[in-house]
Amino acid sequence: MTESSPKAPKLRSRAWFDNPDNIDMTSLYLERYLNFGLSLEELRSGKPIIGIAQTGSDLSPCNRHHIVLAERVREGIREAGGIALEIPVHPIQETGKRPTAGLDRNLAYIGLVEALYGYPIDGVVLTTGCDKTTPALLMAAATVNIPAIALSVGPMLNGWFKGERTGSGTIVWKGRELMAKGELDEEGFIKLVASSAPSTGYCNTMGTATTMNSLAEALGMMLPGSAAIPAPYRDRQECAWRTGKRIVDMVHEDLKPSDIMTLDAFHNAIVVNSAIGGSTNAPIHLAAIARHVGVDLPLTDWQRLGHKVPLLVNLQPAGEYLGEDYYRAGGVPAVVGQLIAQGLIAENAMTVNGKTMGENCRDAVIEDEKVIRPYDQPLVKDAGFIVLSGNLFDSAIMKTSVISNEFRERYLSNPDDPDAFEGPAVVFDGPEDYHARIDDPATGITPETLLFMRGAGPIGYPGAAEVVNMRAPSYLISAGVTALPCIGDGRQSGTSGSPSILNASPEAAAMGGLAILKTGDRVRIDLRKGTANMLVSDEELAARRAALEAAGGYAYPPSQTPWQEIQRERVGQLSAGAILEGAEKYQ
Ligand code: FES
Ligand code: MG
Repeated sequence: MTESSPKAPKLRSRAWFDNPDNIDMTSLYLERYLNFGLSLEELRSGKPIIGIAQTGSDLSPCNRHHIVLAERVREGIREAGGIALEIPVHPIQETGKRPTAGLDRNLAYIGLVEALYGYPIDGVVLTTGCDKTTPALLMAAATVNIPAIALSVGPMLNGWFKGERTGSGTIVWKGRELMAKGELDEEGFIKLVASSAPSTGYCNTMGTATTMNSLAEALGMMLPGSAAIPAPYRDRQECAWRTGKRIVDMVHEDLKPSDIMTLDAFHNAIVVNSAIGGSTNAPIHLAAIARHVGVDLPLTDWQRLGHKVPLLVNLQPAGEYLGEDYYRAGGVPAVVGQLIAQGLIAENAMTVNGKTMGENCRDAVIEDEKVIRPYDQPLVKDAGFIVLSGNLFDSAIMKTSVISNEFRERYLSNPDDPDAFEGPAVVFDGPEDYHARIDDPATGITPETLLFMRGAGPIGYPGAAEVVNMRAPSYLISAGVTALPCIGDGRQSGTSGSPSILNASPEAAAMGGLAILKTGDRVRIDLRKGTANMLVSDEELAARRAALEAAGGYAYPPSQTPWQEIQRERVGQLSAGAILEGAEKYQ
C-alpha cells in the first residue's frame, strides 16, 4: 500500500506539519525542523516520519553499535520513502549502572513514551540489545501503539580462552569459584573475564539480552531470523537496512503493536523461552510489556505453558555454545520450527513482516543439531519455570533447566521425597551483608543450609538487584560443595547457572513473608507441589509480623536520587512486571 492508497490512514505527523486550522503552529513546527536540515518540500510531502529510538551511546557499550547501524536504518527508511529522526533514549547498561540497571527500565520507558507521544512520529524503530533496553522499548511502543519494529544490535562474537569458549557473564561465576578455590589470581581472573567480550554487541550467552531479543522475535516484533545475528556480521547491517525499509510500509499498513503483541504472541514467547533456556528476567519483562499492551498474562501461565517444554538450545549457561553458534544453527526460526511441528505455537500470530509466525517459521530447518537440538533429542526435558508459593511469598520462580547433577544428587535424590528438600535458613539483608559475611565461619553455613537474600526487591534495593545467586562460602567450595539453594526477593543474572528461587513477591520491603524469616528457621521447598514454606507455627509468624510492623516495618536504605524515590513510590512487585503502577492505563 502506498500513501495515496484510499485505505492508508492519515499520518499523525500531519497534525504538526499540515494543519490548515492552525497555521501559526504549523509554521513554527516547520521552521524548527527545517533548521534540522530537512527541506520544506520533504516536510510537506506527506512522507511518514520514522523515529529511530537510539539506545546506543558511550555509556551503553552493549548497544553502542546501534550508532553505526542507525545509518543503515536511515538509508532503508529513505529508500522506502520515509523521513528518519533519531530519538535518544535514556542510557541503560546492565553491569555498569549503580545500584542496579533495574531502576532504568521504567525510566527509559517513561521517557520514550513522552518522546513518541509528544513529537511528530508516525512509526518507530526500536534499537534493542542489553537486557533492559528491549523490554523498555517494547513497553513504550505498546503504550503509544504506533507502528513499531525492533532491531536487535546482536550478540558479541564468541569469546575464547585457551581453546575454550568463554561466555560473557557466565565466566564470572566460574572465575569466582576458581578464585575462591585459590586456582586463579586477580590478574588471571580479569584476563579470563575480558576474553569473553571480544567485540561490539551484547552478552554472547543465553543471558537476559539474548533471551529478550529472541522473545521480541517470538512476539513477532522483529524481522524473522534477525534476533541472533552477531553484531559485527555484515548480515546485521543488511538487517538494519531491511528494518528501516519495512517500518515505512508498516506505517502505510497501520500495523500496530496491539495487532502483533496479542495473547497468542505472549504464549508463543513463553514456549520459546523454555526451548531456548531463557532468563528468569523474562517473566518480569513479558508481564510488563503485556500489561502495557492490555494483555492479561498471569505468572502461572509460565508453568502451565512453559514447564513441559524441553530445552533445545545448547547455549551457556545451561549448555556449551555461544551467540555465533546460535545464529549459524538457525536462530529463533529454527527453534520455533521445532515447536510448530509439536503444535506448541499459535501459528496465526501476526508479525512485523506482515506474515504470520507459522508462515515465517514452519519450514525453518536446524543447520547444526549440536547447537539447536531437534525436539526429540533435547538437552533437558521439562525445561521451563516452576512457580512456587507458600508462607515465604505469594509467588517466586525457579529455572529448572540449570539444576546441576551435583545439586540434584544433594537435594533432590531422597527416594521417598524426590522433589523436595529442607534445611535451616541463613538470611542476608541485601548484597552488602552477603559480601561481608559469606566467608565468615561464624555465619554458620553448612552443606544443609538454604541461603536467603532479602531487601533486594523493586522497593528494597530500588529496581531489584541481580543478587539472589549466591556462591557457597570458600570453605565449602574447597570441600566440593559449590551450589547451595538460594532464595530471594531480588533477581538473578540470566547468565548465571544457579538453581535459585527468585523474584519472590511480595518482597521483604513490602512485608512479604521473607521479612519475618529468621536465620535458623527450617524451610521446606517442594518442587512437585510448588510450595515454599518456613516450618514455623502460624502463631509465631503472626507475632513476628506484629512486632516488625510495630517497629516500622522491614528497614531498607534511603533513596540516593530523586528517581529512586519516585520509583519506590510507584513500582509494583516483580510478579506483576515491576511497572510503575497506574502507567498501564495510558494506552
Ligand atoms: Fe549488556 Fe549483558 S551486560 S548485554
Ligand atoms: Mg543481566
